[in-house]
Amino acid sequence: MRLFFAVLPPVDVRNGIAAAALRLPLEAGSALVPPENYHMTLAFVGEVPAAQLATVREIGAWQRASGFTVRFDAYEYWPQAAVLVAAAREIPSSLACLWERLHAGLASYQLAPNPPLLRPHVTIARKVSQAPVLQAMSAFGWRAQTFSLMQSSRSGAQPIYTVLDTWPLLDECAKP
Ligand code: 2AM
Repeated sequence: MRLFFAVLPPVDVRNGIAAAALRLPLEAGSALVPPENYHMTLAFVGEVPAAQLATVREIGAWQRASGFTVRFDAYEYWPQAAVLVAAAREIPSSLACLWERLHAGLASYQLAPNPPLLRPHVTIARKVSQAPVLQAMSAFGWRAQTFSLMQSSRSGAQPIYTVLDTWPLLDECAKP
């Protein structure tokens, strides 16, 4: 199973991102991410045997992080991944806290041992092979009150993301 932890935008935010995405000057061959797939990845777990799902679920259930508001305020082109993202230049401390604790939990089971830097973003387009001329972005954001464990599977060109579990974010990031 291919798993990841993520925060999902509410429907109104999702619709706003989708409308802005249609105005982006992307070259032919780029693929806009379907709005139902928008998310902010917290921790990419990757492929694990189905027997490890319970462990990954527990790592999610252990978290006691506080909710946060994340504001995405700049388009960025990341050539290595060939993606265009909406990035958040400010990282709320409770997001950093949740990110650290999820990765620490995963690492204690030898999962996701080399986490990337925390760069909060929502991927808007993939297969972007040339740097687009990017206009200023109308910032969007939302208050994250839950986070989810997601499964990614493939059917045709687009991945299908399924929510496996969702947990609340609390008022403060309590010590475990
Ligand atoms: P993204 O968050 O930058 O869009 C599910 O596959 C999600 O996990 C994708 O949205 C993807 O990127 C992120 N992801 C995929 N492979 C990854 C990897 N090797 N390292 C970190 N994140 C990855």
